[in-house]
This record gives sequence, C-alpha cells and structure tokens, in this order.
Amino acid sequence: MTIQFLGQSAFLIETAGKKLLFDPFISENPMSKNIDVDAIEADYILLSHGHFDHVADAEAIAKRTGATIISNYEVVTWYGNKDLKGHPMNHGGKWTFDFGTVKYVNAVHSSMLPDGSYGGNSGGFVIWNEEGCFYFSGDTALTLDMKLIPMTCPKLDFAIMPIGDNFTMGYEDAAIAADFVECDKIVACHFDTFGFIEIDHAKAKKAFEDKGKTLILPEVGKTFEV
Ligand code: NI
Ligand code: MN
Repeated sequence: MTIQFLGQSAFLIETAGKKLLFDPFISENPMSKNIDVDAIEADYILLSHGHFDHVADAEAIAKRTGATIISNYEVVTWYGNKDLKGHPMNHGGKWTFDFGTVKYVNAVHSSMLPDGSYGGNSGGFVIWNEEGCFYFSGDTALTLDMKLIPMTCPKLDFAIMPIGDNFTMGYEDAAIAADFVECDKIVACHFDTFGFIEIDHAKAKKAFEDKGKTLILPEVGKTFEV
C-alpha cells in the first residue's frame, strides 16, 4: 500500500486501485502549506469524527471528486444534507466496499461538527483486503477496547495512531496501544501541528524501540510504502 502523509491526521492511501483519503485538514494547516488541496484525488473520504482538524477540507474535496464519505451515521447525515454522498456506519459494524472491508471501531474521544452540530461518537477504522490490513485509530485515548481488534480482524500490517498527547494519547500510551492491537509498525499522526501537541521525536521513537516496535514519524507531503 502507498501512503502519503498530508499533515495532522490526513493521509492518502492507495490500495486495490482506489484512493482513500483520511481526515483531510490541509488548507488551514500551516504545516501542509506545500500541499495543493485542489489536486488531491479521492474515491473515498474516511472521517474518524467531526472535529475541524479532521474534516476541514472534506466538503470541497468530496464536491470536486465525487468521493463517497465513510464515517459514523451523524457525520454522514450532516454531509448528506449538503448533497454529498456517503456510507454511514456505527461502532462494531463492518461493510465490504470495492476496495476491501471496513470495520468502524471504538475510540475514546468527542465529536462535534464545524457548525456545532452533534457529530456522533468518534471512531477508528480497520481496513483489510488482499494487500493487507491496517488500523486508523483516529483521535483516541488508550483504551482496552483496542484489544478487541486482534480478536475480530485480520492481523494488522501497520497502524496509524495519534501520539501528540493533550487531545489524544501521547506516545507512551500509543506504545501500549501498539501492544493491545498486536502491531509492530506504527505510523504516527496528530503531533507537532500546534503548541499543545509538539513532541520530542527522539523520546517518541525510543518509547517504541524499547518494546521492539518501529515508530514512523512521517514528513508532510512524503509518500512511502508500508
Ligand atoms: Ni478530535
Ligand atoms: Mn484532532
């Protein structure tokens, strides 16, 4: 799978010939100023919750590309009222799309849409197909519910998790989360974007190395294979 980091929690992942865009917050993220948001192609836009730093560019990109929004029922309904197409899910449910199977899993966080509308409950996604299986946790605390993922999904090849602390788990808890989901390769997100979530990169990497795990701290705009 090819992964491009677009800043904060925004990733573009290509798998099974489809482009999956996660949590687009690009045009208003100073760290993503070199990304041309009008050039991003997407077949699906997956939104973990309604917070601004995860959905800011979803409407414009969905309108331009015709991408289908996948999120919880409340978020998909909110975009549906703007005539954007979506596939609503809720916690514990899975659905098989043309690129693979998506399971919407628990997160411990809040969710409110940019205009103050109720955004349902935050979630994460586990996605699998013939190319592999990965977990995009979305904003979340460390939670014992993560132990359900290896019990109910294929073995993870990698996981994308927040490590910036304050609004989500920090890297110490994320290293424990990697144990809970039984995954050795973690791609970090939700760090350094603003003052509350600036991290010490060396300490973050060491927290994972101490457990025999790899933490990838992606650079904004860079594309890599996992
Ligand atoms: Ni959030
Ligand atoms: Mn966030």
